[in-house]
Amino acid sequence: MSVRAPAPETVDLGDPGTFADHDLDEFWRTLRDTAPVHWNPPADGRPGFWVVSRHDDIMAAYRDDEHFTSERGNVLVTLLGGGDAGAGRMLAVTDGHRHHELRKILQRVLSPRVLNDVAAAVRANTRQLVREAVDSGGCDFAEQIASRIPMTTISNLLGVPERDRDYLLEQTKAALSADTEDVDEVDSEMARNEILLYFMDMVEERREKPGDDVISMLIASSIDGVPLSDEDIVLNCYSLIIGGDETSRLTMIDGVHTLAARPDQWRRLKHGEVAIDTAVDEVLRWASPTMHFGRTVVRETELHGVPLRPGEIVTLWHASGNRDERVFDRPGEYDLGRTPNKHLAFGYGPHFCLGSYLAKVEISELLMALRDFTTGFEQTGEAQRIRSNFLTGFSTLPVRFRPDDSGRKEVDR
Ligand code: HEM
Repeated sequence: MSVRAPAPETVDLGDPGTFADHDLDEFWRTLRDTAPVHWNPPADGRPGFWVVSRHDDIMAAYRDDEHFTSERGNVLVTLLGGGDAGAGRMLAVTDGHRHHELRKILQRVLSPRVLNDVAAAVRANTRQLVREAVDSGGCDFAEQIASRIPMTTISNLLGVPERDRDYLLEQTKAALSADTEDVDEVDSEMARNEILLYFMDMVEERREKPGDDVISMLIASSIDGVPLSDEDIVLNCYSLIIGGDETSRLTMIDGVHTLAARPDQWRRLKHGEVAIDTAVDEVLRWASPTMHFGRTVVRETELHGVPLRPGEIVTLWHASGNRDERVFDRPGEYDLGRTPNKHLAFGYGPHFCLGSYLAKVEISELLMALRDFTTGFEQTGEAQRIRSNFLTGFSTLPVRFRPDDSGRKEVDR
């Protein structure tokens, strides 16, 4: 059950339970107004860290790779745990020249130009899943639709065989978005290792028998004349599967959850009163599936008069920046026609999300399939929240669909 947030100094953003047990809207507003650079004190053996809550400050920090680094981790779990094992090798936790070069390599497979076929496959898959669910009257949207779109897409890119996809999905959920307290940090760590081991085997296979997939492309790539090592490749596959699955899945679930509760906005979408691209951005702003990313200070700087010293951890909260009233008109309103919409869901600056185009394709195909195949939908049971201090959203969402027979015929013609 949601309860009102307590005073800022008693909220521990390092604790996943904080997000399951509290409605933090008021807390974030208070921080933005009175403490835009807030200190989250050490707790339960975890070090303390800075919390940045205003939209403009978050953008400025993302842009500033002179004072901040990603190489000591970019999410609380690694930042507080003393570093990221992928530092200097996995794109998101690599800076400088190597980041630039690695990004160019991965951009080759994730840029709009080369994703035509992938986008067509996303469309076919999404439409089939939504159609089947509408025909059967309803489903657990999280399990039967949202779980099957991003994982299929990213598996197609990486060349993961169909028989292994459910296994990988299970591991990614345990790695980051568990929905029970029974999955602790040790289980999550084991799941992360399982994924790494899985890709170790795949890299070995592809070295012997190259295919038309991202792993084979990475095997053939080099930086400054040195081929990528197996470890480099495995770590970046891991990051694509984690980055590409969880975030898009949670955004889609949140989109349907929110639309089910706001029939006025659903009608605007259904009747073509809002452009799909515009709606997708509001779905992203609202969901903000990654609540934060973080950096470590490498050179002393200051923000709002607060000195930030080398070694200190600075966390940037999309959960707050995307509701900042300094930037968004009526930030607490879900407005599918919102323009401009400078949301931070994909971050900003040199590490801006490399999969943003693909994510937008997935979300827009979902909205279009819903628009074409159903006249509306409602939530028929409780949605289970995940437990995390990094991701937010639901792991289950029971819904009932009302079929749109005329819309279907129109599409089938
Ligand atoms: C980076 C969010 C989908 C791959 C990021 C960052 C954010 C983000 C905020 C910046 C991290 C930082 O600055 O430390 C999201 C959201 C998504 C999504 C909200 C979906 C709704 C995807 C997809 C893929 C992907 C589909 C791949 C297929 C990546 C990669 C990076 C990244 C490789 C690292 C980029 C770099 O460091 O240069 N993502 N992402 N993401 N994302 Fe996404």
